[in-house]
Amino acid sequence: MKERFMNTYARTGLVLDHGAGARLFAVDGTEYIDFTAGIGVNSLGHGHPKLVAAISAQAAKLMHVSNYFMTEPSVELADRLTEAAGFDTVFFCNSGAEANEGMFKLARKYGSSKNPGKNVIVTLKQSFHGRTITTVTATGQDKFHRFFGPFTPGFVYAEPGDVGELDKLLGPNVCAFAFEPIQGEGGVRMISREYLQAAEKMCRERDILFCADEVQTGIGRTGALLACERLGLRPDVTAVAKGLAGGVPVGAVLARGKTADVFQPGDHGTTFGGGPLAAAAALVVLSELGSPGFLDEVDRKGRHLMSLIENFKHPLIKDVRGMGLMVGIGVVVDPHEVVDAARAHNLLALTAGDDTVRLLPPLVITMKDIDEGAAALKLALDDVEKEHR
Ligand SMILES: Cc1ncc(COP(=O)(O)O)c(C=O)c1O
Repeated sequence: MKERFMNTYARTGLVLDHGAGARLFAVDGTEYIDFTAGIGVNSLGHGHPKLVAAISAQAAKLMHVSNYFMTEPSVELADRLTEAAGFDTVFFCNSGAEANEGMFKLARKYGSSKNPGKNVIVTLKQSFHGRTITTVTATGQDKFHRFFGPFTPGFVYAEPGDVGELDKLLGPNVCAFAFEPIQGEGGVRMISREYLQAAEKMCRERDILFCADEVQTGIGRTGALLACERLGLRPDVTAVAKGLAGGVPVGAVLARGKTADVFQPGDHGTTFGGGPLAAAAALVVLSELGSPGFLDEVDRKGRHLMSLIENFKHPLIKDVRGMGLMVGIGVVVDPHEVVDAARAHNLLALTAGDDTVRLLPPLVITMKDIDEGAAALKLALDDVEKEHR
């Protein structure tokens, strides 16, 4: 079965068949608790009745028309998303990498309108921004920089937390500072609020765009629509994707104020982005996230999950970090061992960075499933500990 795929993923042999809420079922009938949500995508879990109904109805009506035309779901989504997130305009695309590409292009056009040499983009070490050549370049991790050069010129990496260094890097040739509010793939690394607030202030003073990559942290994941809201940050541009349409591919670049009208006809585009099918799905996600108490519940569930894990007081655990339902567990062993052991206890989990088990459950997960999943995780940690004795 695997031989026909290019060998890009270290996949398990697990073949999944269907799901319901935060539960997944393999073709052999084995049931799993899903603490992965398709790497932060299935925000409403699996088989959500309203999402399934909206996608089915829209598929029967109209699936794709190209961006030469508008459709009602896309127009409504543009209104609802910009309003809910507090931005002025949006460009829809299909993935996180594409959203970041759009954000970088916008920043370069903005910079070049001020001064032709204002085109450098500063990102953070340990960041992850995607897999295209430019977003790999933006990614501040050496391991992603093997094999694929030459890279896009004009990217510089800053050490998160070092305000003095950033002050020096944000020179007149810089058009944008781009950051993840919490570094996801890099290891669920929390970035200090003070550092990001200082970065925002310097960007404002120097007419540098303050650009958030909220591909993983956005759309409810951290208990707010955008993590920047929780950190008291107001980016000029924000990229989102992953959970926005609950499983249908979509991405978006959100812009406000001086960045809202940077793109003009012919500057940027994409064939599929924000088509009616993805838009119909995203409208359901936004409507569920906007229902009273939904985001507070995400926060409550996240705190509950983190406190359960902290209370293990497990010798393999170094620390537990996160916000909302984006949780990282620093471990003293290879995190893949824990994830493999968890699967044997019917729990699906993720790794991030070199030493972190990452949990991104569907936002609709129940407290009961959180309790059961955490209990399975404890058994997995015990198994790995026994093997290392
Ligand atoms: C913060 C961040 N940016 C960008 C991406 C790339 O998104 P995609 O895989 O949809 O291109 C990811 C994916 O994990 C991400 O976590």
